[in-house]
Amino acid sequence: MEKFQMITTIQQHVLQQQEELFPDARGIFSSLISGISLATKAIQAQVRRAGLGDQLGAVGSTNVQGEEQQKLDVYANQMLLHCLGRRDAVAMLVSEENKEPVTFDRARDTGRYIVVFDPLDGSSNIDVNVPVGTIFSIFRRPEWERDPTKAVLQPGSKQVAAGYVVYGSSTILVYTAGRGVFGFTLDPSVGAFVLAYENMKMPEQGKYYSVNEANVDKFPPAYQEYLARLRNGSLGHEYSSRYVGSLVSDFHRTLLKGGVFLYPPTKTHASGKLRLMYEANPLAFIAEQAGGMATNGIGKITDIQPEAIHQRTPLVIGSRVEMEAFAQCVREVEAPVAAGR
Ligand code: AHG
Ligand code: MN
Ligand code: MN
Repeated sequence: MEKFQMITTIQQHVLQQQEELFPDARGIFSSLISGISLATKAIQAQVRRAGLGDQLGAVGSTNVQGEEQQKLDVYANQMLLHCLGRRDAVAMLVSEENKEPVTFDRARDTGRYIVVFDPLDGSSNIDVNVPVGTIFSIFRRPEWERDPTKAVLQPGSKQVAAGYVVYGSSTILVYTAGRGVFGFTLDPSVGAFVLAYENMKMPEQGKYYSVNEANVDKFPPAYQEYLARLRNGSLGHEYSSRYVGSLVSDFHRTLLKGGVFLYPPTKTHASGKLRLMYEANPLAFIAEQAGGMATNGIGKITDIQPEAIHQRTPLVIGSRVEMEAFAQCVREVEAPVAAGR
């Protein structure tokens, strides 16, 4: 029999947190996290059975992004809509897979939260057994705003909580509610997310950079110069490259090991590929809480006032040293251009 070990489940952790954070929450906030925990346990069960049923491949439809939907995209989306939609605390759900917000006719004082999510991130990796994930971001519903879309369009700095689940060699849920970053490993023997990482902090500097090198010739000069500096030892050591192609995996490694992840703008995609509301914002909140930084190349990701729920943004996110070096490089390369020299 294994030695008795004190465990803290994510539900217990959120209840402890919310006593301090949301004294008026009356258990509402923890019910949201329970909804996410339940949905992602069901999603991971399907991800881990991929190939044994009808989970793989495309469904033959495209989503609002014009991207081919994978069966697991649709399954994950339906599971999150179902598990969260039943929680009275939810006023609205916004998903990568739904063009418009899904609203619920709730009393104003119960339906107080908006959950924004990418139900399955890294979909192109599903069929080849590379880790994928789920990303979520939680806002309060503004008291005064009746228009659902306008109610969602809040800057990342207004997030109440944010997190992700990475379906990797283990299933790990990482979240922040503004008082530090915590990681929970799904323990199959208990069937619960159990606290495994207290107060996660991103190292000051790492040894990996993460970018899709196939696009490097299309990046703006400042990005190209920055990548050259990472490779030539200008930051004190030469970097190695890691690119999984699932944002949650590339970010999770950066959170644990430090370094920098970039999805830059290109000539054909001036706003890059990643979505502000359900990819960049939640990870930027976590990075900032863990001592890192996140930018769109101009300012902080969490300062951006969204104009559309599916809008894209360039994303550079990582450790303090790499991020300060990136800002310095942009100033040096773009200042002369801006001055017209
Ligand atoms: P999603 O599967 O939710 O559409 O996200 C995929 C994203 C992100 O996970 C990853 O960082 C990026 O696509 C990879 O894009 P490239 O294949 O263009 O590098
Ligand atoms: Mn994604
Ligand atoms: Mn997705």
